[in-house]
Amino acid sequence: MRKITLALCAAGLFVLAPGIAAADGAAAFKKNCATCHGADGKGETAMGKKMKIAPLAGLAEDKIKAAIDGGVKREKDGVKQEMKPMKDKLGADYDAVVAFVKGLK
Ligand code: HEC
Repeated sequence: MRKITLALCAAGLFVLAPGIAAADGAAAFKKNCATCHGADGKGETAMGKKMKIAPLAGLAEDKIKAAIDGGVKREKDGVKQEMKPMKDKLGADYDAVVAFVKGLK
């Protein structure tokens, strides 16, 4: 039993470690943005649907930064869309998150 557990743990680490090392932008996005935008940026979350959030793919860097720096306040089909400025919250992860959003397809 113990051997099986150890083997499973080792296999788990093997699978997870490269993902964590390669993707802190994705991890930071997941932590700070995914409640509304979804981990894949498509906005298919309860919050995303409630606020009619469009997919984030295909945005230019200046738009991405403007939204993160200053937040967003809009209205779409009578629905209030609001996002607080997130720059301070991201701190050192800022650039990685911008790069991650830029890379979304
Ligand atoms: C409380 C929910 C919420 C959170 C958390 C949130 N956002 Fe947003 N975000 C919105 C809403 C609402 C909009 C405006 C709706 C839209 O653009 O479809 C928006 C818009 C944006 C836009 C602009 C899209 C455009 O068309 O100009 C970007 C870029 C963006 N968010 C990135 C992020 C990033 C990066 C994070 C995490 C650091 C984040 N958001 C966290 C709700 C949120």
